[in-house]
Amino acid sequence: MPRIILDTDPGIDDALALFLALASPEVQLAAVTTVSGNVPVEQTTLNALTLLTLAGRSDIPVARGCALPLLRTPIDAAHVHGSNGLGGIHFPTPTITPVAHHAVDLIIEMVMQAPGEITLVPIGPLTNIALAVRKEPRIAERVREVVIMGGALRVPGNVTPMAEFNIAADPHAAHIVLHAGWPIRLVSLDTTTCAILHRSQVEELAAHGNHVTTAMRQMMAHYFDVFGPQHGNQDRFHMHDPLCLAAAFQPDLITWEPVYVDVELTGTLTLGTTVGYFKRADAPAPNVLASVAVDAERFIRLYMERVRVAF
Ligand code: RIB
Ligand code: CA
Repeated sequence: MPRIILDTDPGIDDALALFLALASPEVQLAAVTTVSGNVPVEQTTLNALTLLTLAGRSDIPVARGCALPLLRTPIDAAHVHGSNGLGGIHFPTPTITPVAHHAVDLIIEMVMQAPGEITLVPIGPLTNIALAVRKEPRIAERVREVVIMGGALRVPGNVTPMAEFNIAADPHAAHIVLHAGWPIRLVSLDTTTCAILHRSQVEELAAHGNHVTTAMRQMMAHYFDVFGPQHGNQDRFHMHDPLCLAAAFQPDLITWEPVYVDVELTGTLTLGTTVGYFKRADAPAPNVLASVAVDAERFIRLYMERVRVAF
C-alpha cells in the first residue's frame, strides 16, 4: 500500500483527486502539501483544509508550501477553477489548521524517515518538490516514486499552444525535478485529456451519492457553466489530477513508455514546453515513464464506484 504525499493546488480537479485518495483503501494519505498554482497558496491551503474537513478526514496533516515559482512571473488558473479555486463555492469553515512545518520540510522529513515507502504525487506546479530535492538530495534515493501530473508530450498544451499549466507555472522547478535522478511516472495531457467525466455522470453521482459527490457537482457547475462554454465545452471535465492519483496505486490503468523528457526554459513562445525523445537514436537515457495510453473507461468506472460509496 503506497503511503502518499499529495502536493496540490486545489483546484477543482485537485479536489476530485483528493476525494479518490480518501475513497481508496489502497492509499494511505500521509500528508497534503500545498503550493501556489491554480490560485495563490493561501487559498490552496484553505481549500485543502476545507476539503479534508468536508470529507471527515481532519486527521490528515496539511503543510503550506511555496507562494511563488522559483524564477518566472506567477501565472494562475482562477478563470478555470473560480476565484476561490473551488468553483466559487464556499463550504463550511475548516476545523483544522496547517501544521507548523513548511511543505518542503515535511516532505523531506517524511521521506527520510521512511526509505522506500513514500510516493510523492505532485498535481500542481513543482516548486515544493524541486526545493525539497535541492535542500535534501538524498530524498531522490529514498522516495518510492514520484507520480507527476504535468506536461504535454505529443499533444498541444493547455496554457499555451505548447505548454501544460503545472510545468509552465514553474518550468525551472520542473527542470530540477525531471533531472533529480528519482523514479518518475509522468501523467501528461497525452492521457489525462482522454480521461473525461461527463456532466451526466456528475449528476448521477450527486443523485445517488453523498455529501461529497454533491459538493463535486456544486464545484463543477462553475466549470460546466462558466469556463466550459467559453471553450466550446459544456459537459466534459478533464480528470487530470484524479488520473494521476489513480496511477499512483493502479498504474496498469495506463500504458507507460520509458522516455527522456526535458523542459524548455528559454523560449519566448515555448517556455515550459515538455519535449519527449520518443524512439530517437540520439535520445539521452530515459528519465521518466511517460503515460502514452489510458484505459479511460475503466478509470472513470473506478472513480465513480469509489467516490459514490466512500463518504
Ligand atoms: O494542466 C492541468 C493541471 O493544471 C491540473 O493539475 C490542474 O489542477 C491545473 O493545476
Ligand atoms: Ca492541480
